[in-house]
Amino acid sequence: MRGMTKPGQIVNVMKEERCFPPPAEFAAKARVGSLAEYEALWNEANHDLEGFWGKAAHELHWFKPYTKVLEWNEPFAQWFVDGQTNVSYNCLDAHLSSPRRNKPALIWVGEPGDVRIYTYQMLHREVCKFANVLKGQGIEKGDVVALYMPMVPELAIAMLACARIGAIHSVVFGGFAAEAIAERNRNAGAKLMITADGGWRRGRQIALKANVDAALAKSPTVQKCIVCRRTGSQVAMQPGRDLWWDELMEQAPADCPAVPLDSETPLFILYTSGSTGKPKGILHTTAGYNLFAKKTMEWVFDIRDEDAYWCTADIGWITGHTYVVYGPLTAGATSFMYEGAPDWPHRGRWWEMVEKHRITILYTAPTAIRACIQWGDQWVDKYDLSSLRLLGSVGEGINPEAWMWYHRKIGRERCPIVDTWWQTETGGIMMTPLPGAIATKPGSCTKPLPGIVPQVVGKDHQPVSAGAGGWLTIARPWPGMLRGIWGDDARYKLQYWSQVPHKYLCGDNARCDEDGYYWIMGRIDDVLNVAGHRLSTIEIESALVSHPAVAEAAAVGRPHEVKGESVAVFVTLSSGFEPTEALRQELKGHVRKEIGALAVPDDIHFTVALPKTRSGKIMRRLLRDIAAGRETAGDTSTLEDHSVLARLRAEEE
Ligand code: WTA
Repeated sequence: MRGMTKPGQIVNVMKEERCFPPPAEFAAKARVGSLAEYEALWNEANHDLEGFWGKAAHELHWFKPYTKVLEWNEPFAQWFVDGQTNVSYNCLDAHLSSPRRNKPALIWVGEPGDVRIYTYQMLHREVCKFANVLKGQGIEKGDVVALYMPMVPELAIAMLACARIGAIHSVVFGGFAAEAIAERNRNAGAKLMITADGGWRRGRQIALKANVDAALAKSPTVQKCIVCRRTGSQVAMQPGRDLWWDELMEQAPADCPAVPLDSETPLFILYTSGSTGKPKGILHTTAGYNLFAKKTMEWVFDIRDEDAYWCTADIGWITGHTYVVYGPLTAGATSFMYEGAPDWPHRGRWWEMVEKHRITILYTAPTAIRACIQWGDQWVDKYDLSSLRLLGSVGEGINPEAWMWYHRKIGRERCPIVDTWWQTETGGIMMTPLPGAIATKPGSCTKPLPGIVPQVVGKDHQPVSAGAGGWLTIARPWPGMLRGIWGDDARYKLQYWSQVPHKYLCGDNARCDEDGYYWIMGRIDDVLNVAGHRLSTIEIESALVSHPAVAEAAAVGRPHEVKGESVAVFVTLSSGFEPTEALRQELKGHVRKEIGALAVPDDIHFTVALPKTRSGKIMRRLLRDIAAGRETAGDTSTLEDHSVLARLRAEEE
């Protein structure tokens, strides 16, 4: 791994003394209603991990019971060995024999204002039909289906249809460009692709199909493409390859029993950024993931039948997978889903929907909260937010000031806030203040969920003392853990299991205070967190270097008020190219084309040389200081050529 800080070097600069106990009224009704109850649960799980999860697993439907809870051949886990279940069954069929069958499973709002409501029965029917469509196109158990769609109900329907027949979905976030889609398709060996004629974003149509067309030209394994009508815009349909969703659905029978699947049947691949330029396909499987999604949904959100629960994440990210689709549906909840941007047609759009749909639980990201702060309180004050009872945050640490605003303005000082720490790899929430049990300290994700055993370790790989920083590891397996990197066991072992023996290395620095509260202190590798999205610096650098004008590039994160971090790049030019504004714009366009809008650098610094160590490693630490306009605080003794630093500073002036 490049650019790692050593665990002993991490200095904690944050001191947060505020502490908010769970509101008594909330605690009185909560599933886990006191610290003592939480501790009893956690101790029970820690004492008998397999017994604990084995008991919980009775809540899923089993076509065939499992004979063993956990088979652990480090680093490969098998949960609920010999058992057979089906995620789509647990999300849908399981509720059809109860009054929930007529309860909304999904309430969806399109950006233009159209609303669609699917009860559990209605969603079940659509999923069965679409599963038959997939079968009709030759999709079988084990085939990979790639999804590149806007936030429309059909995306959830397609995922559940895959799960129903044992196909593996690979959702690619709609902000990625053709190159990125094609790379993922090739890596996954996708056989079929599903997309839409477009999606709505700030009143404009996103041309998804055009991106897919360009991607499919470079995705040799994809044979068919199903296109869902959303915007009604004209798209090119390639005969023999492209098919309309609605036309296929008209013909499809509504009967499609869920296939009994072995517990470890792959459910989905989701690509995320790591410390190399190549995205890694994180693999999640059936039973363990499903159970973890359900239990975390119940513990963390204390979800109730009467809740209107809204997770604002795009389904293209893990948060959308687990907490828009699988968690809420397995728990029998009503999941609210919104297609568009929070500031369209006005900056109060979210709060207007909270008022109108009487949202009770809101789960969002710090970057969205910071944007709302910037837009001004008037957009919030206009609406009645009294339906809210619980707030959540995910994706990055929530700065104490944003936390306080969320608490005061959105929660009106009544709602607990669950700051949830987890990763694509962990499948579900790992640490968070259970809202009826654990007092919150703004900026801390507090304590681990039952069955989760975090440890902060030092240079010697031993647990460090309270208050000291180190690498965050997870000491025991959990049902939602990734089962590997798609097609790359060696990378899986190297990345997560080789540096600290016998523990999962998650890639974050953290410290644990005297009260057993965890504070996440940022990544240990070259992964940026831009508006809650994981980006690898190397991916951005590779994209830049693929442009003829660029000789060498270094990407770093720079603090940003709203996005948390923004991308700044330092670029040296090939001979014959001049550092002009036009070139700067061209390079931005190039990154947009290669990766997608989410990776476009805010700043491009042209320079004649990059600071390097004697062994030739780019010293990103120094570039980070320059990008942030800070003095260089750290050690520069390993710098090969000191004049480079002075030159870089001069170039900034
Ligand atoms: C960061 C998103 C601090 C962290 C679910 C992690 C957080 C990475 C928090 C995973 C939080 C996520 N506090 N940092 N509450 N939540 N992170 O895979 O660095 O997109 O490793 O999963 O985001 O990002 P990913």
